[in-house]
Amino acid sequence: MDATGQVMALVQELTGIRLGPEKRTLVEARLGKRLRQLGCDMRDYARRLRQDEGELLRCIDLITTNHTAWKREAAHFDDLARRVLPRLAGRLRIWCAAAATGEEPWTIALTLLRHIPDLQRWDAAILATDISTRALAIAERGVYPEERVQALSAEERQLALEPGPERGTWSVRPALRRLVTFARLNLIDQWPMRRPFDAIFCRNVMIYFDQATQTQLVQRLAGFLNRGGTLYVGMSESLTGIPHPLRMQGPAIYVRP
Ligand SMILES: C[S@@+](CC[C@H](N)C(=O)[O-])C[C@H]1O[C@@H](n2cnc3c(N)ncnc32)[C@H](O)[C@@H]1O
Repeated sequence: MDATGQVMALVQELTGIRLGPEKRTLVEARLGKRLRQLGCDMRDYARRLRQDEGELLRCIDLITTNHTAWKREAAHFDDLARRVLPRLAGRLRIWCAAAATGEEPWTIALTLLRHIPDLQRWDAAILATDISTRALAIAERGVYPEERVQALSAEERQLALEPGPERGTWSVRPALRRLVTFARLNLIDQWPMRRPFDAIFCRNVMIYFDQATQTQLVQRLAGFLNRGGTLYVGMSESLTGIPHPLRMQGPAIYVRP
């Protein structure tokens, strides 16, 4: 196997992200700039990755696709507001399992703020995780340029955002920040959480995994839901063909019976 193949095999083994031969050009393009910075070729880089944990994290950051948006696939937040929240009383745990640069967990927090009038009295917490440390740093900072918050209505903006530190940026308000905790978590590794969740958002990440990894992941996620708890997957990630114990509730919405 050549050096690019070795890097791809290593990243696939560690992250579950399927990197077939068709992804080779993409991987070379994404790593090209880094190789130039380091002044090394792919062979040196493959060797370095085996010894340098920090570089490995950086490599994973470069290869993962972190595309996301506020209110992406908005029907899921409507379902959370209309069906899930009214069934809970005073306590709520949500896991956003591929949080990328944060727009998704912040949208969940905004949904709670808008739809739970006495939220201050609730024991409510959102855990937001991702494998990419670079994406998580952006998520936790919670500062977005104007063009990335366009999906929010005037009322939503007022609730969620305040002027950011740089011109033309918006910063997530403390009322949302209080609800969300960020942590790095690799979905194909051990999970340190002990308690199950009322809802899990695991959207637009399974598409990168092969079917065996998807099956294992969905079954583990199902085991981390309370009875009646909801799993949201990406709208293009059908669970058809994946054995699981969940009942389909709506498009890309699954409930633990
Ligand atoms: C396309 S984004 C989806 C973001 C968001 N869930 C959404 O639907 O808008 C996919 C995210 O999955 C993360 N990811 C990829 N492999 C992962 C793994 N093994 N464990 C945890 N996160 C992973 C990537 O870092 C990236 O941020």
